[in-house]
This record gives sequence, structure tokens and C-alpha cells, in this order.
Amino acid sequence: MTQQTGSSRQQKLASISAASMANRDTPLIRNAWYVAAKSSEVTREFFARQYLGISTVLFRKEDGSPVALQNRCCHRSFPLSEGKLDGDVLECGYHGFRYDCSGKCVAIPSQKKAPENIRLRSFPVIEKEPFIWIWPGDPELADESLLPHQEFFDHPDWAVNIGYLNIKGSYVHLHENLLDLSHLSFLHDKTFGTPEYARAPLEATVEDDHFEVWRHVECELPPIYAKPLGWEGDKATRSSGSLYVSPGLHMNTGILKNIQHPEKMQDIQPMVKVAQLITPETNTSTNYYYAQCRNFALDDKEMGKFMLDANQAAFSEDVFAIEHINNMQNVDKTPGFYEIDVPADLPGVSMRRLLKKLSDAEQE
Ligand code: FES
Ligand SMILES: [Fe+2]
Repeated sequence: MTQQTGSSRQQKLASISAASMANRDTPLIRNAWYVAAKSSEVTREFFARQYLGISTVLFRKEDGSPVALQNRCCHRSFPLSEGKLDGDVLECGYHGFRYDCSGKCVAIPSQKKAPENIRLRSFPVIEKEPFIWIWPGDPELADESLLPHQEFFDHPDWAVNIGYLNIKGSYVHLHENLLDLSHLSFLHDKTFGTPEYARAPLEATVEDDHFEVWRHVECELPPIYAKPLGWEGDKATRSSGSLYVSPGLHMNTGILKNIQHPEKMQDIQPMVKVAQLITPETNTSTNYYYAQCRNFALDDKEMGKFMLDANQAAFSEDVFAIEHINNMQNVDKTPGFYEIDVPADLPGVSMRRLLKKLSDAEQE
């Protein structure tokens, strides 16, 4: 039975189920750590970006520590990133209000004294190379122990390359995309997908806030892995795992084995870990950093660039899909339309229920 002929009971059940899941309209989860920028992007020059609907300016104090303030002057909303830094004081480029690094207004040129109560919002930030993380919610709740920093970001056994994409679509759809890698065989059929992938048995863990899926596929590896390993044309197994970590992080792991020429395995188990650093810009746009980490060809910079370019091409296909989904929701208003879930969607659906619960709890 197609959904066009679905009964009103089916429609009702689908709408109850959809209401329990986060979607692009669900209020964003503010009390969490999100990647704001790469460490190298934040300097003594202003770096302006929007996080969870708030225009934010980042910069470094004279002592090198990073600062994040709302990028909107309390006077007439001019962006402070268009002003200048004078030591550790920001000066608005419109009428010259001056703010210290805590956001407090310390001078107003047209009067002798600035009132005590004028201040910009300031946001807790933590720098752990190679990223600066921001807490857009209640500063009192910004607990460093919740930071989902991964130790292989900065570890001698791993080489790391970082890419960035901006998506005109919801972060919820990106998390869901990453938990349902059956799309590798279709959306990524020309980049890093292989045909066997979608039909491979799925191992899923769905418990409380633990959502993880694995597939083990026998295949010829796509060039992104086969080329740097020197395994082109060889039969291999590719085990791929996806793990939801937090609203701001999703981890993908690839474990690669050469079954045709095991002697080429040398003495390491080649692995790729891709940290997907997901920071909503607004409800319908997303800052998307990813850190591609590998434990092989560590010193081969050219190969690192090849792998990063291949990743960027593949992830641009995800952007393409998520932007189309967002656009479809803008333009198609078919009455009674509902999305159909299949058993393989269970991890994604459960993860979306958790996001909804976290959001609801904050709204209370
Ligand atoms: S808008 Fe910033 S000082 Fe007027
Ligand atoms: Fe993808």
C-alpha cells in the first residue's frame, strides 16, 4: 500500500511517531559543546560566524587565548567584526562603543561614563588543538568534562586533515545521514560507495543515548583508501561504523583488511576515523567540519591531500542531498504527506528522539 492510499489510522500513527523526533523546526540544543572553528582560523583578526542563530565574533586576546562574543553592538546592532581591536578592547566601527573581552561596555565616546549594565553576550570557549569549541547555552553549565575532544586529533600515530562545508539544511538530517550509511551505494556511487554496501547485514546498537551501526563488506576498496594503501584491484573487507556522540559530534570509523594479499597489511591494521563536527548555524543551515584521521601513510602529505579531496567530493554529495531535502520541505506542501520509516532507520529514528528529548528538556 502506498502512502497516497494509506489509511487515516496510518497517517495518525506516522504523525505521532514524527512528533517524537527532532526535525529542522525543533529548537536547537544550546547546552552542548560545538566546534566553532579550527584553532588556526582564530587570530588577532576578527573571525565572524553564526552559531545556533547567534552572530558571533571570535578573536585572540594579546595573551593568545580565544574569546567569543556576540557580534552585535548593543547600540545599533552594527557587527563588531567590522570594528577594530585595541589591545584587548573591541571598538565598534560605527559610533565607537568599546567593550572588554568579557563583553562589558567600558566606554561610550559621547559621554563620560558607560553605564554598568551594558554588555554583549559572551560564550565559554575551550581550545584543544586543532579546534576551538564553543558552548552556546547557559555558561554555568559549560562543563569541560563534557567536551567530546578525541585524542587521535593530536596524536603521533595519526595523521589528520580537516575539511569544512556549509550546508543549507538541518543538522538533524546530517546526523541521520551519518547513521544510515546504506546511502553509500547510491548517493556516493561515483565516489566512495560500493554496490554491496546497502544490502550488507547491519549490526545496530540502540540503547538510551548509544546509537551505533556497523557493516562489514567484502569489496574492492574505492580509490580514497585503495590508492594510499597500494591495494588497487585487491579484494578487501571494509568494516564501517557510525556512532552518535553528542549533538555536535558524530564518529565514523573504517577498518580495512586486504584479504587477497594479506602480506600487504604490513604491521598495522589500517584504520580511518572521520570526526564529523556538526554545529548548527540556524535551524536550516549547518557548519560542518570534518577531521579525517588515518593511521597509515602518515608522512605522505600528497596522499593526505588526495584523501581529503576525495572526502570533500563525497561529503559534497551529502550536502547536495540534505539541501534538496530542506528545499523539498520548503516547496512541497502535500496535505497528509508522511515519511516512511523502515527497520534500518531504527538507529536514526532513536537518535532523533533523543535530540527531541534534549531540546524539550531545555525548553522547560
Ligand atoms: S552601533 Fe556600535 S556604537 Fe553604534
Ligand atoms: Fe554520505
